[in-house]
Amino acid sequence: MTNLVLWRSARMATLTDNGWGLIDHGAMLTRGERIEWVGPASEMPAELRQRVDTEHDLGHTLVTPGLVDCHSHLVYAGNRAHEFELRLNGLSYEAIAQAGGGIRSTVAATRAATEEALFDSAEQRARRLMAEGVTTLEIKSGYGLSLEAEARCLRVARRLGRELPLSVQTTFLGAHAVPPDFDGRADEYIDAVCDWLPDLHAQGLVDAVDAFCDNIGFSLAHTRRVFDAARALGLPIKLHAEQLSNQHGAAMAASLGALSCDHLEHLSEADIPLMRRCGTVAVLLPGAFYFLRETRLPPVAALRTAGVPMAVSTDHNPGSSPSLSLLLMASMACTLFRLTPLEAVQGITLNAARALGLHDRGKLAPGQRADFVAWNLDHPNELAYWFGHHAVARTIQEGRERP
Ligand code: NIG
Ligand code: FE
Repeated sequence: MTNLVLWRSARMATLTDNGWGLIDHGAMLTRGERIEWVGPASEMPAELRQRVDTEHDLGHTLVTPGLVDCHSHLVYAGNRAHEFELRLNGLSYEAIAQAGGGIRSTVAATRAATEEALFDSAEQRARRLMAEGVTTLEIKSGYGLSLEAEARCLRVARRLGRELPLSVQTTFLGAHAVPPDFDGRADEYIDAVCDWLPDLHAQGLVDAVDAFCDNIGFSLAHTRRVFDAARALGLPIKLHAEQLSNQHGAAMAASLGALSCDHLEHLSEADIPLMRRCGTVAVLLPGAFYFLRETRLPPVAALRTAGVPMAVSTDHNPGSSPSLSLLLMASMACTLFRLTPLEAVQGITLNAARALGLHDRGKLAPGQRADFVAWNLDHPNELAYWFGHHAVARTIQEGRERP
C-alpha cells in the first residue's frame, strides 16, 4: 500500500466552507497523490496516526490549495513591446490589430519558431508561474492558426505537463484571429478550424475549445459553429466574451453549457442569470484590463449578487497581459475590480479549478489532489495584499515536494 505521509505544524486555509476554512494547528495526511485527511492535529484519528510512514514539519507556515491559473496563452514566440510603445504614442489596441499587428504579429513569430524554441520559452514562463505556487495551468493555442502550427503549440503545452511538476490543461483556440492566409475570408477560416478539431482531438491534444468573440474577433454565428464542432466531439467549451464590446457571447456560451466566460467587461447584466443557471464561471482578467487601460469594469457586484462563481487568471499573453504573476492578478482583482480578498483567493483556487471543469482540486479535503502550497504568511488574505513579491516556502504537487 502507498505510504501515508503526515504534514504537520501549519495553519490550513482549506476553502471548504464558503470561507477561508481556517484550521489553526492543522495537519494533513496524504497517500500518493491524494489527500487522505485534513484537520486540527489534535483530532487526527489514532489509527491513521499510527500508520504514518513519513513526517514533514511545515514550520508554522500557512497552507493553501495549490494555485490554479485557468486562462493563459503561454506558448508563443517574440513579444509585443513595440506595440506597447505604439499604444503609448496614441494608437489603440484595435487599430493596431486592424493594421495587421496584434495577434497576427505574434502568429508570424510563432509560425517561424521551432517546436524546441517554443518549448524553451514556454517552459521558462511556466516556471515563473510555478515559483508562485501555481500547480495547475491552462494553456491555449491560438498563435499558430494553421493545423500544423496549432498542433505544434498544443504539443508544447502537453510536453510541459509531462516534463514539469505541473498539471496542464490544453485549450484549442483556433478561432483567435483570422490569419493572413485567410484574409477577408473569416467564414472559410471557421470551416477550417472546425475541420482541424477532430484531428487535433484524435491526437489527444485538446481538453477544451475556446474562441474570441468580439468586434475584432469572431461573430456570434462563427463562434457558434466552432462550439457545435466541439460539442459534436464531447469537448467542453469556454469563451473570450464581452472583452471589448458586447456580442452577447456569454449568454450563447452559457446556454450551451460553457465551463467559463472570460473577460466580461462589457457583459450585460441581463445575461447574468443565465450564466448562474448554467453553472458557467466568470473568469476575470484584471491584467488585460490594466494593460489595455480599459475603463469599463466587469459587473462584479451583479455577478456576486446572482451567485455566479468568479475566477481570476493571468491571461498571460504577449499582447494584452504580459504578466507572469497570478498573485498580482489577485491583488488587482481586489483593487481594480473590488473583489474581496476571499473572493480573489477563491478565484485563483476553487473557482479556477471549476472554470476548468476540475473538481478534484482547489480546496483541501479528503480525496482531493495533494496539491498545496506552504507560505510564510499568517493569514490567507495576505495573498491578495502583498504585491510584487511572494512568500512561497514549499510547493507540494500530487503529494511530492517540488525540487
Ligand atoms: O485574452 N482577447 C483575445 N486574446 C488575448 C489577447 C491576445 C493578443 O493580443 O495577443 C486576450 O486578451
Ligand atoms: Fe485570453
